Amino acid sequence: MCGLVGAIARRDVIPFLVDGLRSLEYRGYDSAGVATLNDKGLYKQRAVGKVEALAQQLAATGMSGTMGIGHTRWATHGRPEENNAHPHVSTEMVAVVHNGIIENYEEMRRELQTLGYEFESQTDTEVIAHRIHHHLQSQHSLLAAVTETLKELEGAFAIAAISNEEPGRIVAARRGSPLVVGIGKEENFVASDVTALLSETRDFIFLEEGDVVDMTSEAVTVYNEYGRVAERPIQTSNVKKNAVEKGDYPHFMLKEIYEQSIALRQTLAPAIKDERLDEGYLGTDAEDILDRIERIHICACGTSYHAGVVGSYLLEKLGKIPCRVEHASEYRYRSPVVTDNTLFLVLSQSGETADTLAALRYAKQAGYAATLSICNVDSSSLVRESDLCFLTHAGPEIGVASTKAFTTQLMAMNIITLFMARRRGLDEAEEQRYLQVLKQASAAIEAALNLDGQIRDIAMSLADCSHSLFLGRGNMYPIAMEGALKLKEISYIHAEAYPGGELKHGPLALIDEDMPIVAVAPKDALQPKMKANLQEVQARGGKLLIFADQGSDFESANQSTVLKLPTVDDFIAPILYTVPLQLLAYHVAVIRGTNVDQPRNLAKSVTVE
Ligand code: AGP
Repeated sequence: MCGLVGAIARRDVIPFLVDGLRSLEYRGYDSAGVATLNDKGLYKQRAVGKVEALAQQLAATGMSGTMGIGHTRWATHGRPEENNAHPHVSTEMVAVVHNGIIENYEEMRRELQTLGYEFESQTDTEVIAHRIHHHLQSQHSLLAAVTETLKELEGAFAIAAISNEEPGRIVAARRGSPLVVGIGKEENFVASDVTALLSETRDFIFLEEGDVVDMTSEAVTVYNEYGRVAERPIQTSNVKKNAVEKGDYPHFMLKEIYEQSIALRQTLAPAIKDERLDEGYLGTDAEDILDRIERIHICACGTSYHAGVVGSYLLEKLGKIPCRVEHASEYRYRSPVVTDNTLFLVLSQSGETADTLAALRYAKQAGYAATLSICNVDSSSLVRESDLCFLTHAGPEIGVASTKAFTTQLMAMNIITLFMARRRGLDEAEEQRYLQVLKQASAAIEAALNLDGQIRDIAMSLADCSHSLFLGRGNMYPIAMEGALKLKEISYIHAEAYPGGELKHGPLALIDEDMPIVAVAPKDALQPKMKANLQEVQARGGKLLIFADQGSDFESANQSTVLKLPTVDDFIAPILYTVPLQLLAYHVAVIRGTNVDQPRNLAKSVTVE
């Protein structure tokens, strides 16, 4: 949530800061700003709306500087107005950008007001700028003033600060929100994630919790949470710049939908060793830990939660292990009972989602046998803090609506299910058969992508509706949930998902000719039940869009359109059936003219509670 970037060099860094903010815009995009120190002193420029608005203002003013900090905002405290945009400045001396939330900002604000500070915003961030300024009166350096201020702040955040008393220096700190330092030649950078820095460097220091970094163009010094100089390794990233560019695609989301076939292959390959699925991929102790596990408890948010629900169906049915799944945001507030030998499993694309991270930290204190994360970012907090980890290899996902991260999470859940199943009676031959099925997932996805044109045509019929229902049964119910989330997220059409059997218990009352129903109905054991459910809909005038497979006898008719996907094993059907739902949401959003990659009110990485 929110993106920050900073640079210190021997050249004008304003163009870099603006480009960096463009790369970070997926983290928040209601206002943006930069601040620099040049021979005229501390200078800031802020604009409401996208980074583009800021870029235009900067071009008009000709602002330049060899160091600076920038920010793109997702509003938490105070409306998206210029006075609430970052950087926030104290007495024309200190400027600060900030991600996250300062929980005790109200009392700090009152105290600062009694000290004579005047506030120009409703944000929690402004207290940081004033506190740093206040401490600069008694401390000898920006580093010391920031360090003193950090002791007073409660919450989860990342900050970067500059002061006109030390124009060659940026001090940044991480507590709860990610922060990475980019190492250049006689220039250094800091940002919320590497995507903002890839144009300048491949060498990064991933800051750890509680770290403070003191940065000039010549040197980078990291201090740990105890104020000691900390050795942090410089890691060379192999993320290619074009992995975070749209290329020929009109939107990141479409690019990422099309990348799924490769992403699935990349996710499966490293988990195979000597033609067998390899538990060692989860970590060195994986085999021992999994031997002890008798139950699994899954927590995640949003799309990752849906992958968790699919996983819970698989784990119980094939893995024969009791499993429960819940929203991470609910979990730690309900005093959960922890049973013996239970594995706590979290899923997250970013590995920085505040609710998921908090659930993991709660679970680590609560007596679980071990923790396992399924995550797409190897440098993330979630990966670092879990005992075991399954890294998905979806590559950077920029579109706010998660697509390839989801299907690779499903692949990970499939593999973990086989790890559990092999302990509960699945023989080697059967496991090999499932492995071959997993290898077919990429090709199946490519076949589903061939339906893109037809789905685009069908999208016209949904584009003008205000509401929709998504139906599925068994492990297609969470896929229906994911389809509904995709549609509401990017097209702003109200979409709800129900298990087909639940219709007659209430939602059937909503059915009329204005309520389109999207059904996910592959030929599986539950298809006859689903058919009966869909007949109940048709009998009440509802219009149906059915995704079925070649083997099923659904046919298009007056009230229903049927799209047929390749027939695949039930094991990978959730992966396959996700794709047409993603495409449907995408095309509906494009027709409605919404901002597909950056839908209103949302941000990619939800690092606040
Ligand atoms: C997905 O389309 C959403 N943008 C959102 O629900 C997301 O999946 C959720 O915020 C969790 O994110 P994570 O996977 O990075 O933890």
